[in-house]
Amino acid sequence: MKSYIANFSRAVVAALALAALTTANPVTLEIGSCQDVTTITTTATITATTSASATSSLVTATPGTPVSPKVLIIANEFEFGYLEEYDFTTQYTGDMFEEVFACTTGGAICKLACGQELVSASQITSLLLIPGVNLTQTYIIVTGTGGVNPKYGTAGGAAISTFGIQWEWGNMFLGTDLPANFSGQYFSSYAQDAPWKYPSTVGTEVYKLNEALIDRFYDVGSKVSYEDVPESSQALRATYTQNAAKQAPFLARCDTVSAQTYWHGNVAGENVEYFANIITTGKARPCNTNQDDQGRLVALFLGAVHKKLDFGRVSMIKAFSNFDRPPPQLTAYQSRFAVGEGATEPGLRNSWQTIVAVVKDVLENWEAIFEAGIKPNTYMGDLKERLGGTSDFGTTSGAAPGSVQGA
Ligand SMILES: *[C@@H]1O[C@H](CO)[C@@H](O)[C@H](O)[C@H]1NC(C)=O
Ligand SMILES: *[C@@H]1O[C@H](CO)[C@@H](O)[C@H](O)[C@H]1NC(C)=O
Repeated sequence: MKSYIANFSRAVVAALALAALTTANPVTLEIGSCQDVTTITTTATITATTSASATSSLVTATPGTPVSPKVLIIANEFEFGYLEEYDFTTQYTGDMFEEVFACTTGGAICKLACGQELVSASQITSLLLIPGVNLTQTYIIVTGTGGVNPKYGTAGGAAISTFGIQWEWGNMFLGTDLPANFSGQYFSSYAQDAPWKYPSTVGTEVYKLNEALIDRFYDVGSKVSYEDVPESSQALRATYTQNAAKQAPFLARCDTVSAQTYWHGNVAGENVEYFANIITTGKARPCNTNQDDQGRLVALFLGAVHKKLDFGRVSMIKAFSNFDRPPPQLTAYQSRFAVGEGATEPGLRNSWQTIVAVVKDVLENWEAIFEAGIKPNTYMGDLKERLGGTSDFGTTSGAAPGSVQGA
C-alpha cells in the first residue's frame, strides 16, 4: 500500500489514545486535525523526491547485458528509501519498461521499484521480457506495507505470508439494494449461491506460495529484533481488544489480501476476511491488507507458467503501516484519516531487518541449499492448478454452477 501519510501527527494519535482512556464516546475531530494530515502528505512527497534523485546516479547497462540475480526485491520506490544495506549501482532497461530495475555490482541482489497492484502486473511482465535479465533461479521477495488485522498482528510489525488473496472480482450491493438475506457480506462477482458457498472463480483469486521456503524464511526472519513504535502509537494499540494488536512489533505468520480499492474499518475488514476464508476454504489467516500484492503475484505466476522464473522461490514479507480497522473508541473514518498509516516508518525499518536476514541466508547458503531450490512441502500454485499438483485450499470444481465463466 502506498503511504499517503508517511509520517503521522503524533499529537493527534496521542489525543485519540488518551480519549480512549477517558471516555467511551467516539472522539470528535476538529478541522485542525485534517490540516495536520495535509502537512504530513507533503512530507511523503519529499521522501519520494529524495529517493528518486538517489537513483539518478545509476549506470545503465548496455542493452542485452546478462544478469542472473540470486535475489530480487520488489517494492514501491519510497519503500526502498528505508533500505540502506545494499548499493544498487547498475540498471537494466528494455522495451516498454519504465521502472527502476537495478542491481548491486556483480548482480547478486536486484530491486524493482514499481507501482501498485494492476499497474505493477504490467511492469513486472515487461521486466520479464528484458533481454539478458534471467530470473530463473532468483529468490523474489515481494515487500511493501499494508494494514494489519488486529487479530493477527500489530502496527509497526510485519507479516510473512503463504497465501496471496485477491479481493478484486468482488460483487458489491450498496445500501437498500443489498438483499436482506446476504447480511452485508461481499461475495464473488460470478455465480455464488450464497455468501457462504464456494464461488465460481477466474483463477487469480488465490496464490499459495512454497510453504517450505516460507517456513525457512520465517525461522530466519523472526530472529531479528524490531524497534518499537512511538509512545503515542503504543498508547493507541493498548486500546485494541485483540491480544496480537497490543504487542510490540513482531513478525506475524499470516496472509495478504489486496485489491485496487482501499478499505478500512470493522465492516469492510470483517467482510474481506469472510471472503478470504471462503475462497481458501478456511486455510488462510488474512492479516495484511493492501493495494500491491496480487498484481505482483499475477505477473510472477504467469512468468512461472511460462518458465521465466520459479514460483517456488517467491515470498512475501510486508510491513504493517497501520491497523486496518479502528480500536473501539474511534470511528473507521477517524482511524483512517487521523491516525492514518502512522506506523509506516518503524514498520518498514522492521520488515527490512527481516528481509536483510533472509537475503543473507540465501547468499550464505546458496551452494548448499538455495541454488538447487527448496522443494515445496504442500501444494503450491493457483486455484486452477496451472503449475501442476492438486490444490489443498479449494478448486474451481467446488464452484456454484451457472456462472458467466461457464462453470
Ligand atoms: C539463467 O541462469 C541460470 C543460472 O544462473 C542458467 O543455468 C541458465 O542457463 C540461464 N538461462 C539463460 C536463458 O541464460
Ligand atoms: C435471498 O433472497 C433472494 C430474494 O430476495 C432469493 O432469490 C435468494 O434465493 C435468497 N438466497 C438465499 C441464500 O436464501
